[in-house]
Amino acid sequence: MSTQPNKELSAPEGTQFENPGIAPHRPRLGDEDAKAAKRSERQVAVLFTISILATIGAIVGYAVYPVSATDASNLRMNTLVLGLGLGLGMLGIGVAAVHWAKTLMNDHEKVEERHAQRGDDATRERAVEMLREGAADSGIARRPLLKGALGGALALAPLSFLVPLVGNLGADWNVSKFRHTAWAGAPDGGPRYLATDPTNRRLKASEITRGSMFHIMPWGLPEEEHYLEEKAKAVVILMRVDPSILKEPEDRKEWSYDGIVAYSKVCTHVGCPVALYEQQTHHVLCPCHQSTFDITDQAKVVFGPAKRPLPQLPIAVDDEGYLYAQHDFNEPVGPSYWERER
Ligand code: FES
Repeated sequence: MSTQPNKELSAPEGTQFENPGIAPHRPRLGDEDAKAAKRSERQVAVLFTISILATIGAIVGYAVYPVSATDASNLRMNTLVLGLGLGLGMLGIGVAAVHWAKTLMNDHEKVEERHAQRGDDATRERAVEMLREGAADSGIARRPLLKGALGGALALAPLSFLVPLVGNLGADWNVSKFRHTAWAGAPDGGPRYLATDPTNRRLKASEITRGSMFHIMPWGLPEEEHYLEEKAKAVVILMRVDPSILKEPEDRKEWSYDGIVAYSKVCTHVGCPVALYEQQTHHVLCPCHQSTFDITDQAKVVFGPAKRPLPQLPIAVDDEGYLYAQHDFNEPVGPSYWERER
């Protein structure tokens, strides 16, 4: 390695400043004291061991706090142990590598001039030689304890990703369940009424004021198995505008009631809840990535990454003035997926 400046890369005459050079090498404790080097070696091994234990802890925690499609009661602990395991696993490897490099590897400073990206053959051969020297400098061949600890940490760390992945392979990936929601009909065969979320109170059309957005769920949704999934798919936003500004195609003319329109609250981008209503522009916004939908024009996308309009829920009013769904959404709710049909 050269410490002389490369003339071709040098700054123009008059703008150069003196090369300060490299500060004199200051030996570290471990350079002169074998006991200190041994101590550093043990510290590095302990850090790798922490990584190993964290990874094992994450896997054990994943098994001890299972989460399934029907039981999410362990979700918090499951996420906590996986997160801690992953974090400590990676942190242990990172800190150990830095500590190893700082205390045990060769610390002589070297200068390398910039050059064309592809070096000539001699340079490439030298690079391979340097890699070999680096491996020799790390002393891995002479330090079986570190070699074993590093190997163990690197071999186990990916398990924190792989175990949950493999564990989910048996999950229910049947996407057809997204095609239908609880709005398809009440269990007794009667209409599915619109109710306030979360108080589950039926709503009359007369209560829907202009400028407000109502968060709606199906009335009387039974709190049985899959309740939360069914509710998450069926959530709706309800707004009232001047009926004359609605741009409704012929086949949707009966889907609104006196300017009241209902759309799925699940963003068609990646499924966040659409929750902000601009009453002046009649746009609804998704707070996650700012997709914006025009509720006067079939909730078409006017801005943002979403590619599809929000599905519309056709609504009507019964003899007493209560709002109900005529039938399910006009298309599957939520983000696009590989099997969806228009
Ligand atoms: S999830 Fe709504 S914009 Fe991304």
